[in-house]
Amino acid sequence: MTRFLVTSALPYVNGVKHIGNLIGSLLPADVHARFRRQTGDDVLFICGTDEHGTPAELGAIQAGQDVRTFCDEQHAIQADIYRRFGLSFDHFGRSSSRQNHALTQHFYNKLDAAGLIEERELSQIWSAADRRFLPDRYVLGTCPGCGIDAARGDQCDGCGDLIDPTELIRPRSALSGDCALEVRTSRHLFLRQTLLVNELNDWVDSRSGWPPFVVSLARSWLTSELKDRCITRDLAWGIPVPRAGFEQKVFYVWFDAPIAYIAATQEWADAGPSGRDWRRWWRNSDDVQYIQFLGKDNVPFHAVSFPATLIGSGESWKTVDVIKGFHWLNFQGGKFSTSRRRGIFTDQALEELPPDLWRWWLIANSPETSDTDFSVRRFVADVNKDLADVFGNLVNRIIRFTHQAFDGRIPAGGQPGEPEISLAVHLERRIATLRTHHEALEFRRAAADTRAIWSAANAYLQRAAPWTTIKSDPDRAAVATRTGLNLASLSAVLAWSIVPALADRVRRAFGDNEDIPRWPSAPCGVLLDCGAGKQVSQLPPLVQKITGERADQLADRFGD
Ligand code: 2FM
Ligand code: ZN
Repeated sequence: MTRFLVTSALPYVNGVKHIGNLIGSLLPADVHARFRRQTGDDVLFICGTDEHGTPAELGAIQAGQDVRTFCDEQHAIQADIYRRFGLSFDHFGRSSSRQNHALTQHFYNKLDAAGLIEERELSQIWSAADRRFLPDRYVLGTCPGCGIDAARGDQCDGCGDLIDPTELIRPRSALSGDCALEVRTSRHLFLRQTLLVNELNDWVDSRSGWPPFVVSLARSWLTSELKDRCITRDLAWGIPVPRAGFEQKVFYVWFDAPIAYIAATQEWADAGPSGRDWRRWWRNSDDVQYIQFLGKDNVPFHAVSFPATLIGSGESWKTVDVIKGFHWLNFQGGKFSTSRRRGIFTDQALEELPPDLWRWWLIANSPETSDTDFSVRRFVADVNKDLADVFGNLVNRIIRFTHQAFDGRIPAGGQPGEPEISLAVHLERRIATLRTHHEALEFRRAAADTRAIWSAANAYLQRAAPWTTIKSDPDRAAVATRTGLNLASLSAVLAWSIVPALADRVRRAFGDNEDIPRWPSAPCGVLLDCGAGKQVSQLPPLVQKITGERADQLADRFGD
């Protein structure tokens, strides 16, 4: 048994996320956590809302609420949506927790003592109309890199570059639209990550299993061009900076957000039965395999700044083993965007269709090696084919026939013959490959293997056709039905990490009520020939096909 720590990037609290966020970190993290639980490993899956910085403050201003109330409400809304999507977090915490306040200040103190914090004077944008400094997203303007308008003063949505608000062309206040902005100086703290560049490069060298593009992104940051990072902001909402002269400032959201992975583990330990020890996962924990799931824009913070914080503290903190980064899911050729309300939002997705339809399509098309386009038409065609025609048809057809011909029991009788033996050999290989792809965090391939297993099961049943042989050769029909039923149940177990709700409905029909279906370990020959006499419940259609009319409605709402 290995211990796996799985974290998904913490979604900003500023409103419901879109399905691009779901596939960019939350969903693959869930699939992997579920898979590792199935193989009997000890898993801790942590996420939470990222509640500081300008996204939270601006969100609250737009909603006409104070920031704390806004965060309380939005955290609950997001937590509920993720529960409905079947995301199986062990804990969904909050970066504004008291644990994160304490831990962030702890890291700051350690880094300061290690000589890795420096005070510098910084030019900041000041708005006389707003009577305040305008950090990060408080400033909008034209991106100096790609030229898109309405780029935000932290990171450009167009090209992904990190920007300093003072670099924006024709800057304006996101609060008042004030264009008469001034530059004033203000004292800030910098994390001197440049002093750690060699250690960080050695650290990246010592990791393996990162997607090549994540390694390249990490390396491109870890050059002589690496800059120290400013970790304070002129904001009221956030974690106070315990340093004289900094009473009016807070830590930068990107300093405290990754620390919240640890703090959320403390929340989990504090909220649960005694004996849960967060330190087992984060301190002196070389036996833990730690995997982070995140979108490519998050790579610099997870491959540079957060490890710099952990390593620079001089304490023995767990650093990530594998950063599984994702490209973007695009929407009609452009980006999904929360702040611009562009795309399909997770609450809307759940209003329209059951969660597993989205889970399936997103995992099967996850943007692992390049950006991927979402289209309603493709989505509808794919889920109809894979889930309704193949998986659903397999399960419903054989259970229905079992009720017609065998009183709803797995029939005994007959001996597996050549078709069953060669099917077992084929499945053995397929399941091994599926497992390898899950282990390697290759989600598209895992979905393709799952689909191939469903198809092989369907093809077997089509050929063995117990409904045809039931009169002429009842023993043969019994073997084919027994095999078909076991195929349906096995198909559900193997797909559980991706489509847990559908898989659970099938498993319940077979009387399998365990929370976590164990990954099959017996030889396929045995698995396909077992269970004679067991009752199988009737099952309403597992997946309703999306009709042409529904597809048109979806296209009307979301665009083709
Ligand atoms: O990009 C984002 O959505 C950030 N809120 C991710 C934070 S990840 C972690 F560091 F908390
Ligand atoms: Zn840009």
